[in-house]
Amino acid sequence: MRFISLLSILHGAAFIAAIPTTPTRRDDGNDTNPKCDVYKDVLSTIQTTVFENVCGDEALDVLRIAFHDAIGFSPALNKSGQWGGGGADGSIMKFSDEELLIDQNVGLDTSIIRLKAIALQFVDISYGDFIYYAAAVATRMCSGPRMKFWHGRPAPIAASPPGLIPDPSDSVTKILDRMADAGFTPEELIDLLASHSLAVQEDVDLTIPFTPLDSTPTVLDTQFYVETLLEGTMWPGNGSNPGEAMSPFPDEFRLQSDHLLARDDRTACYWQSFIEDESVLGPRFAKAMEKMSLVGQDVDSLIDCSHMVPDSVAAASVRGPHLPAGKSLADIEASCKDRPFPTISADSGPQTSIPKPPRGNDGDDGDGAADDD
Ligand code: HEM
Ligand SMILES: *[C@@H]1O[C@H](CO)[C@@H](O)[C@H](O)[C@H]1NC(C)=O
Ligand SMILES: *[C@@H]1O[C@H](CO)[C@@H](O)[C@H](O)[C@H]1NC(C)=O
Ligand SMILES: *[C@@H]1O[C@H](CO)[C@@H](O)[C@H](O)[C@H]1NC(C)=O
Repeated sequence: MRFISLLSILHGAAFIAAIPTTPTRRDDGNDTNPKCDVYKDVLSTIQTTVFENVCGDEALDVLRIAFHDAIGFSPALNKSGQWGGGGADGSIMKFSDEELLIDQNVGLDTSIIRLKAIALQFVDISYGDFIYYAAAVATRMCSGPRMKFWHGRPAPIAASPPGLIPDPSDSVTKILDRMADAGFTPEELIDLLASHSLAVQEDVDLTIPFTPLDSTPTVLDTQFYVETLLEGTMWPGNGSNPGEAMSPFPDEFRLQSDHLLARDDRTACYWQSFIEDESVLGPRFAKAMEKMSLVGQDVDSLIDCSHMVPDSVAAASVRGPHLPAGKSLADIEASCKDRPFPTISADSGPQTSIPKPPRGNDGDDGDGAADDD
């Protein structure tokens, strides 16, 4: 619940309305596939007992788990005769003993173990189905778009090998190569990084136990793409850490990988396109997330249960891209060589500050953060 206290004072304030609980109808009106019905129970369980009806720690962890599971897929390794991982197969849950040893999964342990116990209650769906359904619901909880959901992933056959999850200290080339190996274009990576508008870090810099990576937690927000382009002027917490870049705010954490991708020739113009037209974020994120949920899977053998993803009730009103108070266009490190940076308005008043939220519920919120390791 700690996110609620953040809402009104963030660099880009947003307001959350009621979260929907009823599945919608399928686009073609055919709701007859009984195999989808199980998700009615999954939905009410995860919304109430896992997410506690907010876009909070658990919803964010689910999105991150979905990525770390899917990206465990390497045709390049397979070609060299090694096991390359099964992609979006739920192996991060089934083989959690092995995959939680991977560095980049530090901090996801509590969540994965808790979610696994819940997934086990639903015998008709695999761990992979559970993760990607939960990710689609988490996206809705965080006022993101409705994405397609496919059911029927077979059980994973082995743990993903280590070395496949991008690290925030990796170079842009290394990250783009890794994403390409798993089937993603640079543009699709930038689409997926919208999820970092929700993100907080708890494991990169341990001296600042809870800070947003960028922008506004609680809703998927274009503002992430603006704030990552602000010149970094300080290190929040006690100085620099591997994978961290300087931040424009004392209370906001900046991942080095986000910082570099925002400025690299290969990705900067696409990055800027989110600021030029804020309406692209939702559809792009939905499409890239659907693709992520199908890594290593044969979609022809899956069943379309998209109607089980909750529909929207205009859940959040998000301000358009803007400059936080105290910042001007001169603070933007515009990096697209093809086009000028769009003119966006600045908040007036003194520089806003994000107070540290209470940490009181960490004992039971299952955020799996550094505090329990
Ligand atoms: C270049 C690729 C990426 C890198 C290097 C990266 C790295 C990170 C790091 C270091 C954190 C902070 C973790 C912590 O300190 O607790 C984080 C958080 C997060 N990441 Fe990424 N990430 C990448 C891509 C993605 C993608 C594609 C998604 C999802 C679709 C994603 C979703 C998230 C979410 C939701 C969080 C917040 C987790 C939480 O607050 O509990 N990330 N990421
Ligand atoms: C609806 O879906 C079911 C299960 O996939 C299928 O058997 C049935 O033929 C479909 N009905 C229509 C009208 O498309
Ligand atoms: C590589 O992938 C093919 C096709 O999916 C599979 O049959 C083969 O067993 C894989 N090889 C290894 C070493 O995992
Ligand atoms: C951070 O730095 C301050 C001042 O140097 C020090 O008192 C504090 O113990 C440090 N905190 C951590 C967690 O390292």
